[in-house]
Amino acid sequence: MIQLKNLLYLKDLRKDEINQLLDLSDHYLNSKSPHEFGNLLKNQSIASLFFEPSTRTSASFQVAAKRLGAETIIIDEKKSSATKGETVLDTIRNLEAMGVRAFIIRTGDNDLFNPLINDVGPDTHLISAGESSISHPTQGLLDLLTIRQEKGSFEDLKVVIMGDISHSRVARSLAEGLNIMNTRNVTLISPEEFKPQMEFFPSTSYEEDPKKGLSDADVIVTLRVQKERIESSENNLTLEQYSNEYQLSEEKLELCKPDAIVMHPGPMNRGIEISDRVADGKQSVILKQVENGVAVRMAVLTQILN
Ligand code: CP
Repeated sequence: MIQLKNLLYLKDLRKDEINQLLDLSDHYLNSKSPHEFGNLLKNQSIASLFFEPSTRTSASFQVAAKRLGAETIIIDEKKSSATKGETVLDTIRNLEAMGVRAFIIRTGDNDLFNPLINDVGPDTHLISAGESSISHPTQGLLDLLTIRQEKGSFEDLKVVIMGDISHSRVARSLAEGLNIMNTRNVTLISPEEFKPQMEFFPSTSYEEDPKKGLSDADVIVTLRVQKERIESSENNLTLEQYSNEYQLSEEKLELCKPDAIVMHPGPMNRGIEISDRVADGKQSVILKQVENGVAVRMAVLTQILN
């Protein structure tokens, strides 16, 4: 089995390593009892440090750690000594002194992880729960798991990622993962305002027109629109214009293959990037993604800590 020290970027993993993590996630999902793995991380302590809000990632890491028997410590930034100026590194060193060996961190800071990996103890593991607009590796893994479960493989697929690509760590990690898995066609769709720097999305194509980009898609990943970014966009793009042109509606879904699946990392802005009928429709696998998130995080924690 693979041995991971940290998990920060999917581009650091090989195809066989991703397949092993997905296989292990499926193994956890297929278990008859969620409690049968309760000794795997017994006596291990894991800390969660979230410097940005989260519902799914934070809760699913907690559920995953608990199902594996680990002790979890949740540091609430607003009530912690970070408010008194303590650095993240000092917080980690203090928790290391208490025996904590894994740190699950969400940050809006572009420059947190790279210095940290050199400064933390040799037995300390860092797991990104989302880094600025750069990386969200466990989201990428749960998206890959969902696609593999639904479509069987990656190579022959057309996967469309639509929305605010330029600010999306979800898009970046998923594109990295799909690239490693040799997906034939990964198409990014957004208004010009949200076109990303394409060097961060190797082996993908860009399309501004959803009608062209969605044609024959097997998988559509819609992204949350950060309303404040629309409101501050230089080209006077309005939310109404955005949803008229880019909302995944039933009409746009018909441009895709009849068996296309609809994904969204959450939280959703219903009625903006996705219609209610599509979000709750029979092609939606959005809650399946959430279920897979627990299994993927169990797999990551066991591969790193066991
Ligand atoms: N998908 C995701 O990262 O959701 P949260 O922000 O709720 O964790």
